[in-house]
Parts: sequence; C-alpha cells; structure tokens
Amino acid sequence: MMRILVTGKEGQVDTSLQTLGDKLGLEIIRIGLPEIDLSQPETLEAPVRDARPDVIISSAAYTTVDKAETEAELAQTINGDAPGALARLAAELDIPILHLSTDYVFAGDKHGAYDETDTPAPASVYGKTKLSGEDQIRAATDNHVILRTAWVYSPYGNNFVKTMLRLGETRDELNVVADQYGCPTYAPEIARALLAVAQQVVIDRDPTLRGTFHLTGQGETNWAEFAEAIFAGAESRGRKPVRIKPIPASEYPTPAKRPANSRLNGDKLDDTYGLRLDPWRESLDDCLDQLITATR
Ligand SMILES: NC(=O)c1ccc[n+]([C@@H]2O[C@H](COP(=O)([O-])OP(=O)(O)OC[C@H]3O[C@@H](n4cnc5c(N)ncnc54)[C@H](OP(=O)(O)O)[C@@H]3O)[C@@H](O)[C@H]2O)c1
Repeated sequence: MMRILVTGKEGQVDTSLQTLGDKLGLEIIRIGLPEIDLSQPETLEAPVRDARPDVIISSAAYTTVDKAETEAELAQTINGDAPGALARLAAELDIPILHLSTDYVFAGDKHGAYDETDTPAPASVYGKTKLSGEDQIRAATDNHVILRTAWVYSPYGNNFVKTMLRLGETRDELNVVADQYGCPTYAPEIARALLAVAQQVVIDRDPTLRGTFHLTGQGETNWAEFAEAIFAGAESRGRKPVRIKPIPASEYPTPAKRPANSRLNGDKLDDTYGLRLDPWRESLDDCLDQLITATR
C-alpha cells in the first residue's frame, strides 16, 4: 500500500486528504503540532524518516495572511524554511515531494489568468514567504511538484464560506469586496488532484510530470459574487436571506495587500495529468450540503 506523508493535522487540505485517502485505501500519515513544529524545521527529520513514505505532500503552512505582516520571521520559517528542509529530506530518501503554494505569489495586476511562466511578485509577507518555500524546494530537488492553489474552502477549518455562514446567522446585510477576482477552490477537489498526481509521480520518473502547476476550481468570481452564491445556496437549504452589498477593496482595508486579480490558468495540469477540478459552483453545492442541515 502506498504510504503518503502529509504535513498538517487539522487543516482543510490535510483533512480532505485523509478522508479521500481512507476511501481509496491509501495510507495517509499526517504529521503536525504538537509533535512536529514547522517553526522548528529540525523537528521534521525523525518522524519523516520513521514514516518511510513513498511520497511527501507538504500542505501545512502559516496561513493567517494578515497576521503574517507582523510575524514575518515566524511565517518565513514555517512557509519558507520548513518546506525547504522537507524537500531536502525527500531528496535524501529519493522520493517525490508535492507542495501547495498560492495565488498570492503574484502581484495581481495582470489582465487575464496567470500562467506558470508568469513572474511572481508577491505584495504581502505571506506571499513572499510562500514564494521562498517554492524556491527552496526547487533548489533542494528536481523531484518536486509545486501546485499553486487559491481561495480554498471546505467543511473543515477556517474559510470564507464558513465565515459568511456564521456572519449570516446574525446579520441581514454584509459588505463584501467586489473588485478582487479569483478562483474558489474546494479542498476535497485539491485532495483528489494531489492523490492522482502523487500516484503518478511515485511510479513515473518522467521530468515533464515535475515542476510548477496551477490548481484551482474551474471558473472565476469575486468575493461579493462568491458570497451571493453562498447565501443563495444557504437560502435554498432553509436559511434566512442575507443581502450582499458589493464594496471596493479600498473600503475594506486589511494589513496585507491582496492581489486584485489572482485567477490561475489550469491548462498545464490538464495537459500534463488530464486533471481539471470541478466548477466552483458545483463544489460549493457539495460544501453547503455538508455544512447546512436542510430545515425544510
Ligand atoms: N486557505 C487558502 O485559501 C489557501 C490559498 C492558497 C494556497 N493555500 C495553501 O494551501 C495549503 C493548505 O491550506 P489550508 O487551507 O488547508 O490550510 P489550513 O486549513 O490553515 O491548515 C494549515 C495546517 O498547517 C498547520 N500548521 C500551522 N503552523 C504549523 C506549525 N508551526 N507546525 C506544524 N503545523 C502547522 C495547521 O495546524 P494547526 O491547525 O494546529 O495550527 C494546519 O493543520 C497551505 O500550504 C496554504 O499556504 C491555501
């Protein structure tokens, strides 16, 4: 049975990997706090070696984008140096490493979706530290697959869908930013793609399967339209209506600057692996089914 080591124990993607891996009969070994602390990358070595994995999936990260602005050093260790250490271990063990990165490595001023060949220029500390993680992995081993994803949501952990549903319980109207565009991505769909890629790179050393790929839900939207879809779905499942008032990002200042456009083009992953994630509206339906018990 294939042994897949995953960093992160309670996050959206690692939980989705565990759920799907169990269904597919794969052995998923999740490592994370408190035993392994990515802010101390040296804590990785013994558990990774002990697990004797066939492949590593690096999912855990410092993901609180705004807080990273004031905790740059900690975010750099967790998002930059720890993935680097993990990739050096993968190289020593002669196994592939899959790593999740982010749309926030881009500046957001491109017209149209970002390709893998576009030059990153992160505007936030979080984006810079995630880019450092990518660079350290590339420097450590060619046997890597870096997958940049975006706007992740799921029934697990913290995310925009859960935040909207929570706020909608007590509010009838919410102001939501309408001039930032991206691709909402469902964590169980990310898990489906990660496990398909993992299974292929374990058996096939073809270099064209390696490198950097974009991995997001099909379609695109902005936060306000995403919120409207969430509340339309919630209402059809028996929740009270919530109105969305679209506002510009300039009226919702945050410590970290976010890209105005972070749409990612997923053609390379499709061409290379025949993998395309479901359209985000379909995945949202699945997520809402799990989060909301219909009251009708
Ligand atoms: N969420 C998004 O919208 C988004 C967008 C683009 C890319 N990504 C990338 O996708 C990946 C997965 O994201 P996600 O949404 O699943 O993240 P998540 O739900 O925030 O989960 C992150 C995981 O990392 C763990 N972690 C944090 N600090 C750690 C440390 N010092 N030592 C060990 N584990 C630690 C967390 O553990 P605790 O729960 O115990 O803290 C948690 O299990 C990340 O690499 C992220 O950068 C996410």
